[in-house]
Amino acid sequence: MQLPPFRLERFFAEHEFTAPRLLCASDGETLSVADLFALVPGAEAGLSRLRLGYTDSRGAPELREAIAGLYETISPDDVLVHVGAEEAIYTFMAATLAPGDAVVVPTPCYQSLTDVAVGLGAHASAWLCDPAWGFAPDMAELGALLGGRSRALVLNFPHNPTGYMPAPEVFASMLEMAREHGARVFSDEVYRFSEAEGVAPLPAACDLDERAVSLGVMSKSFGLPGLRVGWVACRDREQLARMAAIKDYLSICGSAVSEYLAVCALRAREAILGRMRELLGRNRALLADFFHARAGMFHFVPPRGGLTAFPGLVSGDADAFCRAALHEAGLLLLPGRLYGAQWPERFRIGFGRADFAENLKKLGEFCQFWDAARA
Ligand SMILES: Cc1ncc(COP(=O)(O)O)c(C=O)c1O
Repeated sequence: MQLPPFRLERFFAEHEFTAPRLLCASDGETLSVADLFALVPGAEAGLSRLRLGYTDSRGAPELREAIAGLYETISPDDVLVHVGAEEAIYTFMAATLAPGDAVVVPTPCYQSLTDVAVGLGAHASAWLCDPAWGFAPDMAELGALLGGRSRALVLNFPHNPTGYMPAPEVFASMLEMAREHGARVFSDEVYRFSEAEGVAPLPAACDLDERAVSLGVMSKSFGLPGLRVGWVACRDREQLARMAAIKDYLSICGSAVSEYLAVCALRAREAILGRMRELLGRNRALLADFFHARAGMFHFVPPRGGLTAFPGLVSGDADAFCRAALHEAGLLLLPGRLYGAQWPERFRIGFGRADFAENLKKLGEFCQFWDAARA
């Protein structure tokens, strides 16, 4: 199987740990192990008793039980834990697609959602999240894209990078159309629990449709990407078994320590998600004020969910803008071209971190410099 370089991950490999100020991360502010222990009585003592053998390849029973609690219709046996969400994208595609199959994928999107499918010899049909419509994809196009041969429909709401979310009834009709065309839904829900105030959360796809696969992770709204704990939830056990058979050639099973800490975090989920919701609320307001005050310089659609937005320069190229922001102000923004050649004026900004206000102030100063240099 041939896979192209993962542009966004190569960019982070180069800059994430050297850039002075990170302003494009898609994860939320993290916790220390001590912060987590403070939320869960007895957790520290439990960790020191933990045995470090191989773990259950489906995920620890306590972890699958805690994950099942995030859904309406899911039991622990409907959950397959993975090392990060990324591994589960791979096992889903490899378990579902054969050469010559087609899959519909929103664009822009997290690159592995298209490129793993293409690497397996499938055809990925792009479903445009249109900036002219606040990044809503066109429902009228979906039937034609699903066509006769599509095996799967990939959805990703809240959407990376735009933060777009449909209304629940529109989401339900996406699943209905996939069902009518015999396509299985792979719903990348890694940004679940980060909806903006007043935006209705979506039901999980696996609760609406028994063939649908929902993807979840501790990385984003929980702010715990270092655990590398992701999962899929799906009521179709044969689909899960096919994915498990592929996982045996990848991680086999997860880290006992990570799974233990993920159980702690899920037990403390109200506190962790509440803290994140407050931070995102504050940062989202700053983000909107920033771009509304600079409407002559940027196109901006307020994100309805997620931890990122995808603004665009009214004139000029975002590669040059992001490069200068890094060199002149030490700010890491992510050029839209990493999502594909059709996004040259766009860049990704992330607002899930505690230093967002301070970094946004720096970006304001940099914008003055950029504007003056072009006057
Ligand atoms: C939409 C989407 N899916 C999957 C992933 C992979 O998540 P993880 O890094 O936790 O494996 C990401 C990471 O940014 C993402 O944005």
